[in-house]
Amino acid sequence: MISTKEFARRRKQLMRMMGKDSIAIIPAAPEKIRNRDVEYPYRPDSDFYYLTGFAEPEAVAVLIPGRPQGEYLIFCRDRDPKMETWVGRRAGTQGAVDEYGADDAFPIGDIDDILPGLLESRERVFYTMGSFPEFDRHVIDWVNRIRQGARAGARTPDEFITLEHLLHDMRLYKSRSEIRVMRAAAKVACRAHRRAMQVCRPGRHEYEIEAELLHEFRRANMEPAYPSIVGGGENGCVLHYTSNRSQLNAGDLLLIDAGAEYDCYASDITRTFPVSGRFSPAQKALYKVVLAAQAAAIEQVQPGNHWNDPHQAAVKVLTRGLVKLGILKGKPGELIRKEAYRRFYMHRTGHWLGMDVHDVGDYKVGGEWRVLEPGMVLTVEPGLYIPTGTRGVSRKWWNTGIRIEDDVLVTRDGHDVLSEAVPKSVDEIEALMA
Ligand code: GLY
Ligand code: MN
Ligand code: MN
Repeated sequence: MISTKEFARRRKQLMRMMGKDSIAIIPAAPEKIRNRDVEYPYRPDSDFYYLTGFAEPEAVAVLIPGRPQGEYLIFCRDRDPKMETWVGRRAGTQGAVDEYGADDAFPIGDIDDILPGLLESRERVFYTMGSFPEFDRHVIDWVNRIRQGARAGARTPDEFITLEHLLHDMRLYKSRSEIRVMRAAAKVACRAHRRAMQVCRPGRHEYEIEAELLHEFRRANMEPAYPSIVGGGENGCVLHYTSNRSQLNAGDLLLIDAGAEYDCYASDITRTFPVSGRFSPAQKALYKVVLAAQAAAIEQVQPGNHWNDPHQAAVKVLTRGLVKLGILKGKPGELIRKEAYRRFYMHRTGHWLGMDVHDVGDYKVGGEWRVLEPGMVLTVEPGLYIPTGTRGVSRKWWNTGIRIEDDVLVTRDGHDVLSEAVPKSVDEIEALMA
């Protein structure tokens, strides 16, 4: 878990970058209705949680660097014995101060009265428009209210700046404790993937395997970081398949893309293995191409390399492999230039990973691919997808969806694969499933 000290350190760092005469407004995510009066389980907004560690809805954090009466304010729900009997404990304003380190806290119902006054004396407002449209309207109302007071001498802020640039750059570099939490999330996800391999049999259903993943997540106090993908045979070729309702056939591959989330940090792992425990020769040949592509891509995860280097390495190995197997025809260099592989490999080799599974952070800086630096975490996930009926490809390759995905930390002298603990070589997988 992330300590209250670390949350405080993050706020300090952000305020330092914001500079004097500025204010940041960070709203909590609203609750979402699932159906009628049933809500989805509440998941805090990552930006809000990153700065507060506060997991309740109907809250707003305000940072006002240099304000003598207090730099960090929380607006939140009051304690309410009746509501707390029905839906659980609330921190209340006292808890916001005592447990979450706010310098001062106010009931959320008072925000309309208090916030315009806080904005008035500040030149720059850091606020991310567009994430929560309803809250955007409040912010506009507050600013308009100050404008109306301008004749009486009130000063409207000059600049509105999105918080994303500063905050998302901070989030891209993971601290030691963040890495510890991400390692824990990956470890449990690995356990879940191993369990899935061990219980998989022809005749079982995708949802039964999904249940095994959930079992491992929940018993470690974790939950899925995104809906688990459990796709047998053709379903493995559907990149975001989540219905997980088909029966598993002997002779098919099973692709599982599932990650655990712990304290709002994600893991994101994919393994592909034979439903009956043994790869067919064709499956093995394709699988080995993807595995080699992944190894080549992971090798490129080094400080000083560029964001795109792992992708380029993967594409090279995949293309050469497809040529060797006779699935692509032509010269590899030429095929790569023409992106001929995209028929079988239509996504990129990875993304940043952190509090959000597709985490924040720019991939290009000044028009150039970003340089990898220690503390960044990314996924490496090449694949090959050849659904039944793919024209111009021999039948023996059909009905094959393969992806292999690991979570990789950039370290000072290379990389560290956080999701190593689940097998991915042909021999290891077949041994575990035997
Ligand atoms: N699980 C989503 C992804 O791999 O990007
Ligand atoms: Mn991924
Ligand atoms: Mn994934």
